[in-house]
Amino acid sequence: MSASSESFQAILDSLYHKYKGLTDGKVASYIPELAKMNPNWFSICVVTADGRTFVTGDAEQFFTIQSISKVFVYGLALEEHGREAVLAKVGVEPTGDPFNSIIRLDEYSKRPDNPMINAGAIATTSLIKGKGATERLNRMLDMFRCYVGHDVYIDMSVFVSERSSGHRNRAMASLMRHFGMIDDRMDESLDLYFQQCSMMVNCRDLATMAATLANRGINPLTGERAVPSRYIRDILSVMYTCGMYNFAGQWAYTVGIPAKSGVSGGIIAIVPRQVGIAVFSPLLDAHGSSVRGIKVCEELSRQFELHMF
Ligand code: DON
Repeated sequence: MSASSESFQAILDSLYHKYKGLTDGKVASYIPELAKMNPNWFSICVVTADGRTFVTGDAEQFFTIQSISKVFVYGLALEEHGREAVLAKVGVEPTGDPFNSIIRLDEYSKRPDNPMINAGAIATTSLIKGKGATERLNRMLDMFRCYVGHDVYIDMSVFVSERSSGHRNRAMASLMRHFGMIDDRMDESLDLYFQQCSMMVNCRDLATMAATLANRGINPLTGERAVPSRYIRDILSVMYTCGMYNFAGQWAYTVGIPAKSGVSGGIIAIVPRQVGIAVFSPLLDAHGSSVRGIKVCEELSRQFELHMF
């Protein structure tokens, strides 16, 4: 991205003011605790691969990471088991279906299509190693700590809300257990999945996580490695093709960089070797992605010619 620090900050501020008034979309309500989010929250943050940070809006406001966690847990599964073993349990094909779809988990496919949809994320979460629930949770939190650069915590109310309303996720886990795609720690793994979705971050944290991927796995603010560089290509490829669910094709066409959204309103996008971008605004479109987040990323991509092709 070629712009002086001052002019880049001015561009972020002007994008914030341009889209602050856009009130299209709805706050997620299928998890009761998420419905309490303030629809006005809005922030944009960019962290460069050499460690400069630009923020505008409510950058310190905490929210739960939701599906954006799937990216990082996929990285952990790759690190702990290697490419072949992970591929045996979860594919790399986009589905064209919503994030919570169960329809392709059948006798013929058995294996979830990719790690960015709920079924695939439950499968990668089930691969997290450790002797029991606490050890596995701590391993996961420690992985997230490397990406954000400080300790991370789980929002208990959201976790309990997810766990008590997540019947569809439970159904998918049961099916995968039946097919032998996940092991008999199913309930423990489901809890881990709900916990990862309920991890608290702010927009600044998300941009740092994105920048760590842009910087080939090294957190540019702390210098700590979060994931081996050989898996960056796997992570970014599935983000590019599957990260925005059944909007992934349109996103690849218009924005043209790997990205991931979550139902609390976060979106991360990565310009490899350059920057990590994060936008947070809880008003969602029909695909479960932030309306303002998409607009901001489209505009950044256009202005700075970020599209990969
Ligand atoms: O499994 C769920 O329903 C949520 N905890 C995560 C879903 C999510 O963020 C989908 N993203 N747009």
